Amino acid sequence: MYQTLLTDFQNHILTITIHRPDKLNAINNLVMKELNEVMDEVFKNDEIRSVIITGAGIKSFVAGADIGEFQGLTVVEGKDIAQKGQEIFKKIENCSKPVIAAVNGFALGGGNELAMACHFRIASENAKFGQPEVNLGLIPGYGGTQRLAQLIGKSRAIEMMISGKIIDANTALQYGLVNDVVPQEELLNKAKEILAIVNLKAPLAVAKCIEAANAVFDKTKNGYEAEINAFGNCFGTEDMKEGVSAFLEKRKAAFKGR
Ligand code: COA
Repeated sequence: MYQTLLTDFQNHILTITIHRPDKLNAINNLVMKELNEVMDEVFKNDEIRSVIITGAGIKSFVAGADIGEFQGLTVVEGKDIAQKGQEIFKKIENCSKPVIAAVNGFALGGGNELAMACHFRIASENAKFGQPEVNLGLIPGYGGTQRLAQLIGKSRAIEMMISGKIIDANTALQYGLVNDVVPQEELLNKAKEILAIVNLKAPLAVAKCIEAANAVFDKTKNGYEAEINAFGNCFGTEDMKEGVSAFLEKRKAAFKGR
């Protein structure tokens, strides 16, 4: 169905694997287009409750935007690429269903930006993170300048971007860029274990947690107001009534996403 993505659907979890192994899964125009399409599917398909994004093979998550496509572009074309990339990565960030990155190797440039657009990241021990665009006379263009500063603080973000330095998985853990580091062979199972727990929770409440946390970084929104509205709206859901009744009746809640 896709030329650059593999998809696997099990237990309500969609695993999306960026699959350009000969190019270390670099994001070309087709990968971007297909990521956009698969995210539309995630939004539409009620069977999908959560998503894992990973890269093919054991060496690379995504080694950046495809540098081969940058040659000879104009200023206007450069802006267009960043605009479109940012829109698609915002779609991931604003997805109402949890999207986690399972970083299985190099997450460089657009690869780190893709990982950062996900709601959180777990990494294999061999993962490497960096924004090496300065080596090419470029800067991050898919939201990386913003999200890196949000996730690891402005000082570390600027140092990483202006030096192009590559950090290992344990440094990324220490910086707060990833939530967990596990051996490579356990990476996907770890991601699935986390999502299996999340998938048992009330889907509308999960969506509201993501939305309210995203509001922290959205200058057009007042996060506290967003929280009041989201909290209040929970009282209008069947799942909240079910969750509270189940607790009081000492039984397991059965959520329906309504
Ligand atoms: N865009 C296009 N092709 C890329 C790529 C990218 N971002 N990253 C890797 N590739 C390609 C290489 O050109 C090579 O293709 P080839 O076999 O046709 O020559 C293939 O993937 C394997 O990469 P290679 O460089 O041989 O592997 P390595 O183990 O020696 O080095 C990296 C790995 C990640 C350090 C190195 O590939 C690299 O620096 N990539 C670019 C990272 C980057 O600057 N990303 C930001 C882009 S904006």
